[in-house]
Amino acid sequence: MRLNIIAAVASNNAIGYKNRLLYHIKADMARFRQLTLNHTVIMGRRTFESLPGGPLEGRRNIVLSNSVTALPGCEVYSSLDKALDSCNGETDVFVIGGESLYKESLPKADRLFMTEIESVPEEADAFFPDYSKGWKVVNKESHETQKTHRKYTFVDYERNGE
Ligand SMILES: NC(=O)c1ccc[n+]([C@@H]2O[C@H](COP(=O)([O-])OP(=O)(O)OC[C@H]3O[C@@H](n4cnc5c(N)ncnc54)[C@H](OP(=O)(O)O)[C@@H]3O)[C@@H](O)[C@H]2O)c1
Repeated sequence: MRLNIIAAVASNNAIGYKNRLLYHIKADMARFRQLTLNHTVIMGRRTFESLPGGPLEGRRNIVLSNSVTALPGCEVYSSLDKALDSCNGETDVFVIGGESLYKESLPKADRLFMTEIESVPEEADAFFPDYSKGWKVVNKESHETQKTHRKYTFVDYERNGE
């Protein structure tokens, strides 16, 4: 089983504010859907609560929590290891946030699917951990939003094996 992390980060590694995403880039949402569809997604309880439509359709939704034991349309686990054990035999599993889950899963992850947005938000209270060392770029695609000309790059990383 490959453990993948998928995240959209600002230039200062910011990922959220007040339990909401900082940017809504259509192509990024589409890429997220395309990569995670038919796979298992693992998220923290706060990220689950931030989803506008509840569990993500077409995917096995796992939520980590120590305060909640059941959520409709989801499997709830009390630790990352228990959640990962339940994914035995799957090809790809995606950690989809938030800050606490990214921190805990980064040392275990095989691949990172990052959307790196060329912007620093005015306010942020959630950040992605430092991933500047130990990872090599295996694919990179730069784009710009049509309306606001915000630059963003899809960057895929694998462990550099050093
Ligand atoms: N930019 C992006 O790509 C992206 C993606 C996702 C989320 N986000 C942002 O990230 C922020 C949320 O991050 P966050 O760190 O505050 O919350 P989070 O990681 O989504 O959820 C934290 C909660 O998850 C549970 N949890 C985490 N690790 C656990 C473990 N090992 N075992 C059991 N339960 C565990 C706990 O729930 P209980 O308190 O119930 O025990 C904890 O309070 C938001 O701003 C959101 O918008 C950004």
